[in-house]
Amino acid sequence: MNPYITPAQAVALLQQSKVVALPTETVYGLGADATRDAAVAAIYATKSRPAFNPLIIHVATMAQAALYVQMDRRAQQLATAFWPGPLTLVLPLLPQSTISLLACAGLRTLGVRVPAHPQMLEVLRAFDKPVAAPSANPSLGVSPTTAAHVAHAFAGTVPILDGGPCLQGLESTILDLSGETPTLLRPGPLTLDQIQAVIGPVAVGGSDGDMKAPGQMRRHYAPTKPVRLNAHAVTPREGLIAFGPDVPQGAHVTMNLSDQGDLQEAAARLFGVLHDLDTYPITGIAVVPIPMQGLGVAINDRLTRAAAPLESSTEE
Ligand code: TXA
Ligand code: MG
Repeated sequence: MNPYITPAQAVALLQQSKVVALPTETVYGLGADATRDAAVAAIYATKSRPAFNPLIIHVATMAQAALYVQMDRRAQQLATAFWPGPLTLVLPLLPQSTISLLACAGLRTLGVRVPAHPQMLEVLRAFDKPVAAPSANPSLGVSPTTAAHVAHAFAGTVPILDGGPCLQGLESTILDLSGETPTLLRPGPLTLDQIQAVIGPVAVGGSDGDMKAPGQMRRHYAPTKPVRLNAHAVTPREGLIAFGPDVPQGAHVTMNLSDQGDLQEAAARLFGVLHDLDTYPITGIAVVPIPMQGLGVAINDRLTRAAAPLESSTEE
C-alpha cells in the first residue's frame, strides 16, 4: 500500500485513535492521541517498546502545554526563547491533566515540547489535542530522519505524513525542570550553553541506570553492524564515517558527515548515514573522532550509544 498521507488525513486518523508517522524538525515521530490509552497502546505495540518508557507529548503552543503541566518561571522563559524548537521540558503533571497514564508510564511528570515543523504544527493545531510521539523507529533502531526511513522500518504499514528530511536530524534536548535543579537528561540540538544563557546553571544527569530518563539506556540508536569510535585508520571491510577534510583512506565505503567539518550539517546527516551504511556488505562501522563542542556533544552521545555492545542493553 502507499503509506503517504496529507495533513488532513493525518488529523482524521488521529481522531480515530490511529498511529501516524509525523515529521518534526528533529526526527520523525510515531504519533497518536495522547489522551487515549488505546491510541497510546498502539504506539507501544507498533514500536515494540516496553511500556515503562514515557513518551514525549507534542502540542501547538505554550498555552496548550500549560493545560497539562505546571509551567514555572524557568519553563516559561525557556519556552518563550526556544519553542517551537528542539527542546523537551520535563515538568510536573497537573492533577487535572487528561494525558493517558500509559503515555506518562506512571510518572508524575510529563515531557512536552512544541515542534518547529510547519506541517506538524498544522496537524497539531487542527487536531487541537496533544500528540504523544516517540521517534518513529522500532525499538533499538536508528531514529528516522526521512519519510523513506519510516516506510522502510515499518514496511509501509504505518501511514506517513512526508514533511521532507528533518532539518536538525537529532532528537530534542531533554531538560528536567521537575525539581529544584534543572537537569539535562539528553543532549540534543539545543546546547547546554544556550539553555544556561536563559536560566543559569544546569546539572548534567541521565546517566545509565538513572530511570529519570528511562529511554536513555546505553544501547540506543543502534545500526545492525558493530560501531567503533575514535578511529584513525580503517580496514577494507569496514564502512567509514568521516568528519571534515582529513579522511582515513581504504574503507569499503566512506560517508562524510560534513566535508567542511560543520557540526550542524553533521548532526542533520548522522542518522541518515547510519541507515545508509547498514545496507552495505561491511563487517562494521568505524567513526573518526568528532569534536566535543556545541552540537558535537549530542552527536558523540548518539554515537556512543550506537557503539555500546548489545549485551549492555537491559531495556528497550
Ligand atoms: O526529538 C524528539 O524528542 C523526538 C520527536 C519525535 O519529537 N521524540 C523522541 O521521543 O525522541 P523518544 O520517545 O524516542 O524519546 C523520548 C525520551 C525517552 O528517553 C524518554 O524516556 C524521555 O524522553 N522522557 C519522556 N518523558 C519523560 C519524563 N516524564 N521524564 C523523563 N524522561 C522522559
Ligand atoms: Mg527514540
